[in-house]
Amino acid sequence: MKHSQHRATLGGKLSAVLVAAGSSVGLGNIWRFPYVAGDNGGGAFLVIYILCVLLLGLPLMVAEFSVGRATHRNAVGAYRALDRRWSFLGYNGVVAAFLILGFYFVVSGWTAEYMVHSLTGELARYSTAEEYKSIFDNFIRNPWRPVLYTSLFVLATHFVIALGVQKGIERSAKVLMPLLFVILIALSIHSLLMPHGGDGLRFFFRPDFSKVTPSTVLVALGQAFFSLSIGIGTMVTYASYFKPDTNLRHTALNVTILDTLVAVLAGVVIFPAVFSVGIAPESGPSLVFITLPSIFNGMPWSMVWSSVFFLLLVVAALTSTISLHEVITAYVHEEWHLSRRAAAWATTAATAVLAAAASLSLGVLGRWTVAGMNLFDSLDYLTANILLPAGGFFTCVFVGWRLDRRILRAQITNDGTLRFRIYGLFIFLLRYVCPAVLLLIFLDNLGVF
Ligand code: TRP
Repeated sequence: MKHSQHRATLGGKLSAVLVAAGSSVGLGNIWRFPYVAGDNGGGAFLVIYILCVLLLGLPLMVAEFSVGRATHRNAVGAYRALDRRWSFLGYNGVVAAFLILGFYFVVSGWTAEYMVHSLTGELARYSTAEEYKSIFDNFIRNPWRPVLYTSLFVLATHFVIALGVQKGIERSAKVLMPLLFVILIALSIHSLLMPHGGDGLRFFFRPDFSKVTPSTVLVALGQAFFSLSIGIGTMVTYASYFKPDTNLRHTALNVTILDTLVAVLAGVVIFPAVFSVGIAPESGPSLVFITLPSIFNGMPWSMVWSSVFFLLLVVAALTSTISLHEVITAYVHEEWHLSRRAAAWATTAATAVLAAAASLSLGVLGRWTVAGMNLFDSLDYLTANILLPAGGFFTCVFVGWRLDRRILRAQITNDGTLRFRIYGLFIFLLRYVCPAVLLLIFLDNLGVF
């Protein structure tokens, strides 16, 4: 396949890993992973999660990378170039990216608000978990403030995107990703030194398989896909900017390791702290926004710790919203033949409207429901439970069964210059294991089991 000359490419070897890891590492790792692990028994969940990441997530990421770099196109253009009938897979990705942004921007806005309130000392004015719960509930229902912070977050994402692939995405990932690691390591050391921190570590690392049910496996799988950003063409789009000498397997392996490391580090930050203060690890999605401020409050220099922690969430969320925005921007730019600037603005305007509506659906617009859920919840449900597993399923079917084997081999081995000893295993996972397991998640979500 010809490489289009006018298209941007990413710089060195590290950049491919950094931008892809920037996409993967996000609220999914730091906010969602700990509460899902807490809900599902801790240690045993961690073991299953890691198996899902290695056996299913990793091959799918290599598959998406191959499709993106083979075609050098946006998600829709990429599948269309390989087989017209499969362009629906690209559309599924663009639509899913748009819908995910609808609620992801809202949660990102909350992290920005909490960072600002940590810096101003506002958060430190309260002390009990009940107080934090009521300020959180009041905040997300307020008609103005969350919309304002969400809009600021949308604009921040826009300006990185508008700078272009190389200046915007690559440079910000280079600064943001290492910063994230430094902050997480500092916080995890702090957490480990808290009284009773060991109980939290035991909960997180000692598997208790008696708590495992079939649904634990399915939850772990869904979390793995969401966390790795696979199934909806994000990695197809990013890989379309990779250079011909980027080693796709190593990039996927590094991204997977980094993503998993961040999730595990987030667990090491959160569980010792949760046990130290005596909070139930099963506290659910509110764990970060309600419980952590009350934990920070009991710490020396609480303002510093909470500011640093919420800065970390903002950073992680931003590198992920950038990748979701880029899926849509690249599509609009290349398929609708708009300039990149106009494409970025169109994407920003449309996602801002959806995100504002999703934010308001938690308060004043709460009576508008889709299938019995408010807009915010329905966006989350539709993407995580339907579009994402469906996208993952069809991606393995396409790459495993339909894609010309020579194209796949050429991408993975860089035209035969790299050896791939476990190619047989890779194809086996992609053709049989991934589609079968994904079908199980899908059926489970439809309530068949
Ligand atoms: N992986 C990101 C996170 O963990 C979110 C994300 C970015 C995503 N791009 C995606 C999720 C594509 C699914 C598909 O927060």
